[in-house]
Amino acid sequence: MDRKFIISIDGASSTGKSTLARKISNLLKFIHIDSGAMYRAVTLFAKNNHLLSNNLVDKNALIKLLPNIKVDFVKNNIHLNDTDVSKDVRDENISNFVSRVAEIPEVRSFLVTKQRNFTINHNVVMDGRDIGSVVFPNADIKFFLHADLNIRVERRYNELKSLNSNICKEEVKLNIIQRDYTDSNRQDSPLIVPENAISIDVSEFDINSLFEFMMKKIHSRLSQ
Ligand code: DC
Repeated sequence: MDRKFIISIDGASSTGKSTLARKISNLLKFIHIDSGAMYRAVTLFAKNNHLLSNNLVDKNALIKLLPNIKVDFVKNNIHLNDTDVSKDVRDENISNFVSRVAEIPEVRSFLVTKQRNFTINHNVVMDGRDIGSVVFPNADIKFFLHADLNIRVERRYNELKSLNSNICKEEVKLNIIQRDYTDSNRQDSPLIVPENAISIDVSEFDINSLFEFMMKKIHSRLSQ
């Protein structure tokens, strides 16, 4: 397998991973894979097939249906079985269930195989929770982003408000706290700081200075 240049960006939700990954991939002409969107697409598939109820996922039924799931990126938009679902996967209902779906080992190995396949033909910037630790432990450069909870709540709240004016800040905070807990405490591939990752507290930067800082690190790695 021809191995390409891989940049991993991990961290908790609403730390700006995807925004930065997108900016970096645009500048370098790499492809950007938002692995969180892939877990969200599987969650949407589960919802469409009536496999989500009362905070529970029908795991066995979902595992059986995994071969029916096709997840792709078309011009950076996530597609589920050939339909653009980039808006649908951001729905609060999907956010409330996605950590439960992401803790199912069969779902993880199904998506990890797809994530690894993206690098057969492309240089990639991939963001998520386990990219530098599990998916690409040998990534060329790894970043780990973290930030104060209130800053993350504010970010997510403003993002959601632009989509849905009825959203309540306390609800957003609760969802982030719950997801942090599930993502960090699951058995399979929990959120950790990957070995050799450059760990950054994003509360200390504005997005442009953070982008410049990361680009400096990437350029120095690319020139080695
Ligand atoms: O980045 P995000 O908030 O869109 O991710 C949605 C969920 O997917 C998140 O709660 C954890 C899960 N996830 C994961 O388990 N592993 C990844 N590599 C990416 C996301």
